[in-house]
Amino acid sequence: MEALQLEKKEINEARQGEAYAPFAHDENVYKKKFYIESYGCQMNFSDSEIVASILNKEGFGATRNCEEADLIFVNTCSIREKAELTVRKRLTEFRKIKQTKPGTLVGVLGCMAERLKSKFLEEEKLVDLVVGPDAYRTLPALVEEAETGQKAVNVLLSRDETYADISPVRLNSNGVTAFISIMRGCNNMCSFCVVPFTRGRERSRDAQSIVAEAQDLFNRGFREVTLLGQNVDSYYFVNETTNEIITFAKLLELVALVNPLLRVRFSTSHPKDITEDVLHTIAKYENICNYIHLPVQSGNTRILQLMNRTYTREWYMAKVDQIKKIIPDCAISSDMIAGFCTETEEEHRDTLSIMEYSKYDYSYMFFYSERPGTLAARRFQDDVPLEIKKRRLQEIVDLQNRLSLESNQKDVGKTFKVLIEGQSKKSADAWMSRNSQNKVVIFPKRNYDFQKGSYATVKITGCSQATLFGEIV
Ligand code: SAH
Ligand code: SF4
Ligand code: F3S
Repeated sequence: MEALQLEKKEINEARQGEAYAPFAHDENVYKKKFYIESYGCQMNFSDSEIVASILNKEGFGATRNCEEADLIFVNTCSIREKAELTVRKRLTEFRKIKQTKPGTLVGVLGCMAERLKSKFLEEEKLVDLVVGPDAYRTLPALVEEAETGQKAVNVLLSRDETYADISPVRLNSNGVTAFISIMRGCNNMCSFCVVPFTRGRERSRDAQSIVAEAQDLFNRGFREVTLLGQNVDSYYFVNETTNEIITFAKLLELVALVNPLLRVRFSTSHPKDITEDVLHTIAKYENICNYIHLPVQSGNTRILQLMNRTYTREWYMAKVDQIKKIIPDCAISSDMIAGFCTETEEEHRDTLSIMEYSKYDYSYMFFYSERPGTLAARRFQDDVPLEIKKRRLQEIVDLQNRLSLESNQKDVGKTFKVLIEGQSKKSADAWMSRNSQNKVVIFPKRNYDFQKGSYATVKITGCSQATLFGEIV
């Protein structure tokens, strides 16, 4: 089979994931094998771990080799047109496997399921199963249905499904860092965004089950958890027995208290919802990392209004000031969209200047891609020509590269507590770690007795735009 040729950037974006589970090849434990590939955001990768757990219970073991799988799943993303094109290309390759190995079932999971179910099933005959993000509990029944030759579909979205009780099988894990999904869906209606349509209403997961999952991960040797949601700051859960209201600030605290050796991160924060309480909680606990992903999308108030982000340029800048005041060494990263409907050159320059103002340590940068059914697609014309979108994006990327380098240069000479995630990819004699600000720190092992999951104190001696280099002190 021809390997899919992905550009480097595309791989970063899609992070094609091959999954495996313990005992995958133990025929006595698992009668059949499944292969799962995930695209899109971290929430999708976490969902694949829930899918793996559900399938494990039904007697399916995971394999890293799609050619030996009985079931092939693609967990899909709809966020930009390119993400969808990549998935379709992949599905035509899986069809070839089906042709050489009849009986292999191919399933589409995740965010493209709802939007494209009829197209997948009828017009193109590419797939046997289509299962939306809230319907994974019905997977075993759907697989059975598909095995009899019927097309199996469930794309119903739910108001309350959080998979709270399902303990995810950790796929491709480094054994040190893990993700915990704390909520699903999104109630914001950013006009460019398809997520509210693909994932449905926002709902928060039972706080107790989140803390229990963090505790279990810690007991198994994990040393860092990232709490995941499209808009974590609107987390809201009421404990039915005590009537206690658990906000995101409270949840952060509960997870931080699991153990001081367990680092806590979170993503994503919507600027309009992050509270002062959250900032004070981060400042109070050493193990809550000093890093906030705070997507701005645009630096211009008129464009922000069209995007329905509900904040202005000045309001966002004040939020950045507040963060830096309460957590002085806090790193901030962002998402930017270049060339949104009607964006002028001057408005684009507002995005560049707000990047300079916020001094982002890192950013995810995109050009606008119209998504069918969204508010923007219905109301506005996608009128910025592609070449202009691309040129503006390049200016944003170039600026971010400079800001990342400058931010790293400022760290040279500083000392950080870092968590070791594993061996450096480039050298067996060096460790790869991260500091609280989420920066990658590489340092030589020397003769010290450190392991994956150990904390070390490292003095930074040099840097590149993406990495800090240091020595143990
Ligand atoms: N919930 C997060 C982001 C989720 S999507 C938030 O509110 O910030 C991740 C990023 O993809 C977004 O922040 C946005 O920058 C980008 N994105 C979403 N829809 C897009 C579109 N139609 N075109 C280009 N980029 C888009
Ligand atoms: Fe999309 Fe906005 Fe929700 Fe983020 S907050 S997922 S950008 S609608
Ligand atoms: Fe994509 Fe769905 Fe995530 S559209 S970015 S996989 S929520």
